[in-house]
Formats: sequence, C-alpha cells, structure tokens
Amino acid sequence: MNEISLFNAFRAAGQTQVFAFWDSLNTSQREALLLQMAEVDLAEVARLHRTLVLNPGAAGLNLATLLPPVCKRLPEHGGDTVAWAHAESAGESMLRAGRVAAFTVAGGQGTRLGYDGPKGTFAVTPVKRKSLFQVFAEKIAAAGLRYGRPLHWFIMTSHANHEQTEAFFAEHRFFGLDRARVHFFRQGRMPATDFAGKILLETTHSLALSPDGHGGSLRALHRSGALDLLQSEGVDTISYFQVDNPLVRCIDPAFLGFHALSGSEMSSKMVPKANPEEKVGLFCQLDGRLVVVEYSDMPVAMQREINSAGSLRYDASNIAVHLLDREFVRRLSRADAAGGTTLPFHRADKKIATVDAAGNPVKPGQSNGVKFEMFVFDALPFARNPLLLETRRADDFSPLKNAEGADSPQSARDDQLRQAARWLRTAGVDVTTDTSGLPSISIEISPLFATDVASFIKAWRRLPQKPTLVHGLYLE
Ligand code: UTP
Repeated sequence: MNEISLFNAFRAAGQTQVFAFWDSLNTSQREALLLQMAEVDLAEVARLHRTLVLNPGAAGLNLATLLPPVCKRLPEHGGDTVAWAHAESAGESMLRAGRVAAFTVAGGQGTRLGYDGPKGTFAVTPVKRKSLFQVFAEKIAAAGLRYGRPLHWFIMTSHANHEQTEAFFAEHRFFGLDRARVHFFRQGRMPATDFAGKILLETTHSLALSPDGHGGSLRALHRSGALDLLQSEGVDTISYFQVDNPLVRCIDPAFLGFHALSGSEMSSKMVPKANPEEKVGLFCQLDGRLVVVEYSDMPVAMQREINSAGSLRYDASNIAVHLLDREFVRRLSRADAAGGTTLPFHRADKKIATVDAAGNPVKPGQSNGVKFEMFVFDALPFARNPLLLETRRADDFSPLKNAEGADSPQSARDDQLRQAARWLRTAGVDVTTDTSGLPSISIEISPLFATDVASFIKAWRRLPQKPTLVHGLYLE
C-alpha cells in the first residue's frame, strides 16, 4: 500500500491520531511510521474493539456445560503401566525416524521478571549459571545423540528481542548444536488501543505495537516457512514449550508416543493443581471439546469442588507443553489467513507507554489501554482427538515468571536442586536434604549426563569412579 492509500485507510477507520505529528517528522521517521501502519489490519482492530472492549460479555463461557477433562494419568495415579511403556517405545521410534522437532516460544516481554535481555538468556542453573537457552540446547542435543537423529529447533522471537537472541546463540556457538538446524523467526505484532479503540502511539513516529501472544506462534510457524521446512525434512510433530521453564522435558518419548498412537492433532501435558487457589489455566471439557479455562473465568466455588474420590474435580493445570501436528498448524493458519474462525484474541488492560498531545512521553500510572493476544491452547478445540497427559510437576515444570518469591530465579534453582537430589537418591546415593527435598549443597546435572531419572541411574552406574558429594558438584 502506498502512502496515500494508507492515509486514506486510517482516515476511514477513524485512526487519524497516528499521524498527528506527521508534519514534524523527518523522512526516516515518516518511513518507519508508514511501515508500521502497513502492518496493521484495521478491520481486525475495529472488530476486536467491538467484540472485546465494547461488548466484552458477548463470548461468555457457559459454565453449566463444563466438565472435567478426560486425561491419561501417570501409573502412580492409576494409569496403565503397559500403555505408558508402549507409548514410550512408540515415541522413541518417532525420534529415531527423525519425525520430531523442538519449538520454543520466546517472544514474550518478560515484564514480571524485570530482566534486561531476552528471557532465554537468563542464567538459571544453580552451579554453572547456564542460560535457559543452553539448558534446552543440551536437552535437544541429548535427544539427538540418544536416538541418532539430530533435531531441528525452532525459536520464536519478537521484534524486540530477535537480534539479541540470534547474537546470543552466535556468541555461544549455538551451544554445540548444528547451526543449520536452529531456526529463529519473529512473531507477529498487534497495535494497542485506548479504551475508545484508537491506536496508541508509542512515540511521535511509532505505534504502540506488542507481540500477538503465544497463540501467534501458529501463524508465525506458517508465515516463516517453518512448516514447509519441516515437511521437506520429514518432521510431522512439533514439540512446543515455553522459554521460561528450565525443568521442561522438551523431548518426551512417552508424550510423543501417546500423541501419535491416539491420532491426536494437538496434545497437552497437565499437572494436578498444587492447591485449589493456584492461579493456573485449567483443562476442562466444554461441549465435548478439550479447552483451557482461565482461573479468573472460573468461580471460586467451582475451583474448590471435590469429586467422589475426594480430589479436586477440576485439577488439570495447564503447564504450556504441547505437541502439534504439522498439518494441523497448517490447516489452522490457512483458515486464519482466509479470515475463517480460528484462535480468538483476548484482551488485556495494560499501562501502555505513549505520548501526550505535545508528543512528550507518558508513562501511565494505571491502565490506559488494551493489548490483544492469542493463546496457543485455544487451538485445542479445533484439534482432532486432542490428548491430555498427566506429568510430574517436579520433573517437568518450574516456571520462571517473577523477580522474587514464587516462580522466581530462586524457586527455579531450588526445583533443579531438588530434582538432582531426588535422582541421586533413586540411584542409591545418600543426599542430605531438608523436608522439602532441598539438598544442603548445590548440585547440577547437565542434560548431557541425563535427561530423566532412568537415564540418570544408567549414567551414574556407568561412572567408573563416583564423585564425592561436594558443594558445587557438576555432573556432565
Ligand atoms: P507469559 O504469558 O508468561 O508472558 O509467556 P511473558 O511476556 O513471558 O512475561 P510477562 O507476562 O510480561 O511477565 C509465556 C510464554 O509465552 C511466550 C513467552 O516468551 C513465554 O515463553 N510468549 C508470550 C511469546 O512467545 N509471545 C507472546 O506474545 C507472549
């Protein structure tokens, strides 16, 4: 679109405020603003304002039809041990056949952590202070070595952190991975609006644009050409995980096997809720479909409901670990591009940095507008045979969200230490811990040494000389 038609389109949409400072801009500022304007889908912005801001109750959830989901449980919670073993070997066959790729969503803004840099570069491990990216790189490398097929790894970045992320990998020589198998692509952006639906300016010559949510990863996989690359490489299954979970079993054979054996197009892992008030999204069944309901959308009484077995009725927490069938992503993305019904947007009221009428920067003290985001779990209701699998929180989930307290660098380090102590104990080593399982010394196990308790026991037994348990022990 040229300058005139862009101006006309914005004028027709009642968005003239975006060129309020046009006359005072220099040529490069004008060009930058025009490029951003061309990125905006004005009809989408108007629709989102109508449906999510003016009419927010319209798409309300019918709680009367909500049910607990069907879930494959762990053997210790009644799951079928034979089925788990069968799934694990099916998943291993998929890995040996090179059918699996890893996919990290790393486009978030990480505001709560307050760390200056892409979250994946955060030093997260207790002894070596490895970054999250290094931890995942080693897990992915370990799977490649174990099954004899190096995996492709896709990393979704944002406009804000793309260059820094790529530079970090280059600086660390891709952590020993084949760089031809590590792929970065940016996710899409959405403009923020004020409560009247007007697109906000971040500066006199730029719009307030922000990442379109982790649900934007599906569009981005398609647009970036990742799906075509996967197809040409014979990969049909995408293992999706978030950048802020150092414990994640990002390549999990049993999960892969269950997914493939049930003909699922999208599968998810859950952990039982830690307590009734835990602020997590919950897997539920709604009109026969698997969905995730945000805790804020479920009445407290329902969150506390107990079933006949004496457990929480709705206990299936979403830990944002999914498997996606490549062609499922393509189907959704094509429908999306054609304007069909796909992932809905959600609204989040935020303090959005903007400018005042004179063009001076404004940092609002309270919410002054709305950001629009998509959530990847909203793809579940579109999937054929979606599968939900229980996993162990202690071996799969330790989110790094906040600077302090729960879900912080400290809790992530402690969870890794507890895991190391547990694995050592299972291998017969006497480790002193407190009542929460936290060892009195720092120990770190590289994913290249072991990625789960079974591989740890094997690797430990193979050691010709067992190391002494000292503070700062590192097993590689
Ligand atoms: P969060 O929802 O925790 O958001 O993202 P965040 O942006 O990282 O952190 P806050 O809320 O600003 O503190 C969960 C995962 O989804 C990714 C994040 O990078 C993280 O891995 N994500 C989130 C994206 O890739 N893109 C987005 O637009 C949003």
